[in-house]
Amino acid sequence: MTKKRVLSGVQPTGNLHIGNYLGAIRNWVELQPDYDNFFCVVDLHAITVPHNPATLARDTYTIAALYLACGIDLKYSTIFVQSHVTAHSELAWLLNCVTPLNWLERMIQFKEKAVKQGENVSVGLLDYPILMAADILLYDADQVPVGEDQKQHLELTRDIAIRVNDKFAAEDKPIFKIPDPLIRKEGARIMSLADGTKKMSKSDPSELSRISLLDTPDDIKKKIKKCKTDPIMGLNFADDRPECNNLLGLYGILTGKSKEEVTLECSDMGWGKFKPLLTDATINALTPIQTKYQEIMADKTYLDSVLKEGKEKAENVANITLKRVKNALGYLVINS
Ligand code: AMP
Ligand code: TRP
Repeated sequence: MTKKRVLSGVQPTGNLHIGNYLGAIRNWVELQPDYDNFFCVVDLHAITVPHNPATLARDTYTIAALYLACGIDLKYSTIFVQSHVTAHSELAWLLNCVTPLNWLERMIQFKEKAVKQGENVSVGLLDYPILMAADILLYDADQVPVGEDQKQHLELTRDIAIRVNDKFAAEDKPIFKIPDPLIRKEGARIMSLADGTKKMSKSDPSELSRISLLDTPDDIKKKIKKCKTDPIMGLNFADDRPECNNLLGLYGILTGKSKEEVTLECSDMGWGKFKPLLTDATINALTPIQTKYQEIMADKTYLDSVLKEGKEKAENVANITLKRVKNALGYLVINS
């Protein structure tokens, strides 16, 4: 039986935080033996907000190396860079022309990011979810493992795929496969260390709000020491304690303990006792990733070879889908 296909991606904007890891990449690693996987570094998405050309290439390497360091295994998975496979931009254009504008204007992430950009909102930022739909649909992905914040983009992708199939496909021969989001409950939404009601985010101006995968033990210690807590004695997963929920949740995921086990262990603790435990758990989880990351980054020849092979494998799949779409839309296609 052929394996089902998984596709996902992360933007090369700064380095990854534990929200990206626990919400997305850790799940990719767990799923990979059972699927045929494509993981891309979505560098075209990275320029939908103002970006720094001097760091884009390096950030792209960083994310690819972090995929490998976190445990993405080339035996099961293909790693590639979005801009290396031109079919992504091309399909995005075709999808642009069949997607109603008001579908995009409804996107929560667009509204949130647009507010931050003021007068400078690019057309690309509005178009971001279409490019994401192209990423997914080009690979006939069955499952798309992402964090909770991407759910709406996945729904849009499904709507676009259904619309294209309805408009242009023969009934028994759909053009696109309809993908499903794969959102694990645990870790799907890691909150900011500075405010337990806000998502941990790469774009938060405060470094103290997030733990990056490449933070040193001292950084981690400092950030957890300074993180926001509440003045209530005894720690538990109460709905009205956002910071407590988040930190206990993190501790549970990082140590592999269940909610019940964490509750039992921490219910009589104060923050002074809990914070060093969380610090140790975080350092223990990140140290092996960091060691592997340094090794991979020191060998750019290897990393280049991974990305070159990834590009070829991705192109083989993507170009077939693109051709199918162009045929269905009526383009003149010359078989070369
Ligand atoms: P991005 O950094 O926006 O490219 O996100 C990459 C992946 O990380 C996506 O699957 C997101 O859903 C996921 N993600 C981002 N922030 C968080 C968070 N705070 N908690 C859980 N998952 C997240
Ligand atoms: N929009 C996603 C995010 O910010 C990144 C992304 C781009 C993506 N293309 C994708 C995720 C395709 C999954 C599949 O997290």
